[in-house]
Amino acid sequence: MSLDAHLVRLHLQSPDPAALAAFYARCYGMQQRVIGQTHLCEGPLRAVHMSPGQANQLHYALWACNSQAAWERLCAKTATLPHVDLSGFSDLPQGALGLRDPQGLCLVFVPPQAPPAPTQLASPLPGATNQHFAIRTQQIETLLSFYTEQLGFTLSDRVQDDSGKLTACFLRTEHLHHCIALFGAPVNCFDHQSFETPNWADLKDWADHMGRLRTEIVWGVGRHGPGDDVFFMVRDPDGNLAEISAEIETCASDRPVGIWPHEERTLNVWGKAIMRS
Ligand SMILES: [Fe+2]
Repeated sequence: MSLDAHLVRLHLQSPDPAALAAFYARCYGMQQRVIGQTHLCEGPLRAVHMSPGQANQLHYALWACNSQAAWERLCAKTATLPHVDLSGFSDLPQGALGLRDPQGLCLVFVPPQAPPAPTQLASPLPGATNQHFAIRTQQIETLLSFYTEQLGFTLSDRVQDDSGKLTACFLRTEHLHHCIALFGAPVNCFDHQSFETPNWADLKDWADHMGRLRTEIVWGVGRHGPGDDVFFMVRDPDGNLAEISAEIETCASDRPVGIWPHEERTLNVWGKAIMRS
């Protein structure tokens, strides 16, 4: 059975969280506030938090279960795993469940949430919601086993080289094709986060918005093979990729796992790709 949860937000570490917050507020249409050392950027159904730390690393990733039954299933499934003490995570709600993956990434889950109050912005942009993120890892097989077997994520697609070695994989927690992607790489670090906008016309409006800000598109416009989503990416001041995507595949629960070759055309069926290995 699917884990049945959705990504709510990421919390990034940064040597200059104020500069990072200014970037996301400007480029992704969010309002900023500061609580202690944490900068919070929040917009309609999207948010990203940041606090002091090493660049290109996540402090945590937060998911909300879509039903009380899903929350209870997750709590039961993870009861024997070590839990993270979240008392020092001041921007998390009470009662959150914290776990660490084998690479040390903090994964936080909360019960079903009431819809947030609408956030008013001075210049409305098309909708875009936190949808997925990706990490680079030296332990891709170990992480794949952890996410699927220990947490209940579902493998949507795998990318493999000519020898059958896994080089990337895409995992879902509900009907959308992936909420996390793992890229085999020489380093362990954060890769990108994506904000999903409703359609192609809205993606164009986001690209025009980046153009007006003179924020360069560094990859795309393209279409990913796994997920079938159209996309473009910019870079934040720490060098993290940040994506706008649309049209991500909706998966039936019995969808077979897809297998893709390790080549640029898999990551961008329209042409060039950023290869992580
Ligand atoms: Fe992505």
